[in-house]
Amino acid sequence: MKTALFVVGSFRAKSFNRQLAREAEALLAPRAKVEWLDFRAVPFMDQDAENPAPKAVAKAREAVLAADGVWFFTPEYNFSYPGLLKNLLDWLSRPRDPSDRTSPSVLAGKKCTVSGVGGRNATADCRRKLADLLAFVGMKQLRDREVGLALAPSSWTTDDLALDEAGRAALAEQASAFADFLES
Ligand SMILES: Cc1cc2nc3c(=O)[nH]c(=O)nc-3n(C[C@H](O)[C@H](O)[C@H](O)COP(=O)(O)O)c2cc1C
Repeated sequence: MKTALFVVGSFRAKSFNRQLAREAEALLAPRAKVEWLDFRAVPFMDQDAENPAPKAVAKAREAVLAADGVWFFTPEYNFSYPGLLKNLLDWLSRPRDPSDRTSPSVLAGKKCTVSGVGGRNATADCRRKLADLLAFVGMKQLRDREVGLALAPSSWTTDDLALDEAGRAALAEQASAFADFLES
């Protein structure tokens, strides 16, 4: 069975995107094992602190290397992706072997897909900009079944994602397509 690494671009305890990721985990479970990346301890990028890599960065690199693919779940912040996700990807984009500047990063050639839930824009600008970044760092993206959802107005007060049937069906299609992609 393939392994998917889940990366959530929000540290908020009741994050709608983490709730979406939990739904995706259940949908993906029959086809792929899910691991969750905890990257709260990853510091801000500092080239003076790159070598040796901080422990949390080394751990994140190992988790990406061990996975067959990465599924990002992300909110949209100011029509883009959150800075914490950019910071993580900046660390992961550096050469694996610090003594060889031409060695590939752990992201190079790694399969991935993206989902996002947010306001009325359904994270469209976040996902568009993230796709550019993921292409630049050399990831292989599955964009066909990408899910972007707008929250129901009631969710803002209840903090409950309250995924409807259409949303769950779309996520199930993305999970199935991602499992196929991982197995291909
Ligand atoms: C700094 C900031 C900027 C935001 N900008 C946007 C935005 O551009 N579009 C949008 O739909 N929601 C925006 N939001 C609202 C988020 O969609 C909302 O806070 C959402 O709950 C975040 O996802 P999470 O529940 O997974 O943490 C913004 C929130 C923050 C904190």
